[in-house]
Amino acid sequence: MVDKYLVIGNPITHSKSPFIHQSFAAQTEQNLSYDKQLVAVDEFENFIKQFQAKGGKGCNITVPFKEQAFSLADQLSPRAKAAGAVNTLIFNSDGTISGDNTDGQGLVADILAHDIVIKHKRILLIGAGGAARGCILPLLAQHPQVMVIANRSKDKAITLAEKFGNAGNVSGCGLDEISGEFDIIINSTSASLSNQLPNIDQAIVANASCCYDMAYGNEETCFLTWARELGVLHTIDGLGMLVGQAAESFRLWRGITPSTTSVLAHLRQQLKQS
Ligand code: ATR
Repeated sequence: MVDKYLVIGNPITHSKSPFIHQSFAAQTEQNLSYDKQLVAVDEFENFIKQFQAKGGKGCNITVPFKEQAFSLADQLSPRAKAAGAVNTLIFNSDGTISGDNTDGQGLVADILAHDIVIKHKRILLIGAGGAARGCILPLLAQHPQVMVIANRSKDKAITLAEKFGNAGNVSGCGLDEISGEFDIIINSTSASLSNQLPNIDQAIVANASCCYDMAYGNEETCFLTWARELGVLHTIDGLGMLVGQAAESFRLWRGITPSTTSVLAHLRQQLKQS
């Protein structure tokens, strides 16, 4: 029987995960199916248990279920614990469910794939919501020199930074309090989705060598346009992070790390045509 996987969310129509995983499966000659599934907001746990009982092997979890998946998992990886959210469920042969979070690894892999070094570099992470939280541990594992988390609501940045205080040189501040110079700036806010810029000093952006926006679209995000026009050498959107998190989920399920290059090129082409 074919091993079955799903991505579960609400909404789910526009998910690129089936295309990505089906491409990975073809590339690595893995016999599996991967579909998308809309689940009602109060039906998540029931649905997962039924899918597991029917022989499903695992799921990707997207909005709004990542916290529920976190609560449902019997075991959690350190990075899922740090993220407080799960995007990958693994149904084990003993009937237990493991939860992991591959978003941060997807981000790190994409940054490194652009030949950007994180080790000993100064990182500014803008935003302190779920997307920021999910990537802090994997970023710290690359041993940056410092990481400053800056957020519009300052208290959220400080609280988040304190959670990681022992894992590295991490601090939190408001957007108007950012000081110092940074090599890599990562925009994890949802501002780009509404075509808004986070309100930070342009000199901070102009000094960076890399600006990464977790958002992506058929056009360059306004944050990346701003950075590019300020002379930032490397401006990268979040499409590679999407493919990277999928590759890490695939590795967890199948024990094989797929190549992301051709899938990413295909998705980029699709985006340009849309
Ligand atoms: P989640 O549900 O993932 O936690 P969220 O609460 O919507 O997401 O947070 C998204 C992030 O984008 C937050 O850091 C938010 O800042 P606040 O905590 O101050 O709300 C940030 N954000 C959204 N729009 C923004 C904007 N226009 N400028 C700056 N930051 C913005």
